[in-house]
Amino acid sequence: MRRTGRVWVSGAGLAAAALLPAGCGVGGVANGAQRADTQNGQQLFTQKCAACHTLAAAGTNGTIGPNLDNAFAVDRQQGYAESSIENVVLDQIRLGSGPIATYTTSKKFTSQPTMPANLVTGQDAVDVAAYVASVAGTGGPAGSPSSVGTNGAAIFKGNCASCHTLADAGATGTVGPDLDQLKPALARVVRQVTNGGAIMPAFKGKLTPAQIQAVAKYVSSVAGKK
Ligand code: HEC
Ligand code: HEC
Repeated sequence: MRRTGRVWVSGAGLAAAALLPAGCGVGGVANGAQRADTQNGQQLFTQKCAACHTLAAAGTNGTIGPNLDNAFAVDRQQGYAESSIENVVLDQIRLGSGPIATYTTSKKFTSQPTMPANLVTGQDAVDVAAYVASVAGTGGPAGSPSSVGTNGAAIFKGNCASCHTLADAGATGTVGPDLDQLKPALARVVRQVTNGGAIMPAFKGKLTPAQIQAVAKYVSSVAGKK
């Protein structure tokens, strides 16, 4: 199912590239004028994509969208060029779930969580795509919570930043409340992270109790301080 979506997205990308000349240089990032800055890409990935996707190299554990290491590991093993993976990621960033949901014949699929289009744009999108293509499925440990231990800031960046604003973590998400404004106390964060909310997923079982304490301690100590 997912693979079908991917193939479709790749096809759509060719058409999109024809319409958007800016996209044409993307396949040749290494030699074209549009050099990708993977460091910028990593930073943006942490801010915009991490809460929904697992990517071991970035230390992120999001589970709302597919695990990107798993999504691209097979392609990589089969010798799929890095530039092709990059184009698939770039198409996904530009199109989000929208066109897939529109064109799919599977009703089941449309009820799945969706990815907004254009979370990053222009050169930033190229940088994120290049970064993901350079690390996804390279065989690092699957982004298990153990890879970040009990570093509250790292847990926050990997699991919360895409949805929440928190200046100390460089997070600018707007899906959930601005934590700098909310300044939640420790117990409130522990409760919310453990049980989730109407939209926010529960992290019980995804993060260990020690990690929930660590991220709650981090949030309650830095919120509103910057
Ligand atoms: C709000 C959650 C959310 C955010 C934020 C998000 N995604 Fe997604 N992403 C999803 C979901 C859900 C899917 C699967 C459904 C779909 O294809 O739209 C997906 C699919 C993908 C895929 C396709 C994977 C495959 O198996 O083919 C890629 C690549 C991807 N996202 C990259 C990104 C990047 C890069 C960012 C940051 C710019 C990002 N996503 C931000 C939820 C999200
Ligand atoms: C997919 C988006 C999303 C992610 C990921 C997410 N949150 Fe939330 N968060 C929300 C939303 C939306 C709300 C508002 C309540 C609701 O509808 O769930 C919220 C509410 C909160 C609140 C306020 C609770 C209250 O008592 O008002 C805190 C604190 C919080 N989140 C912390 C976190 C932390 C820490 C993480 C990471 C471990 C996290 N969130 C991950 C979307 C998210």
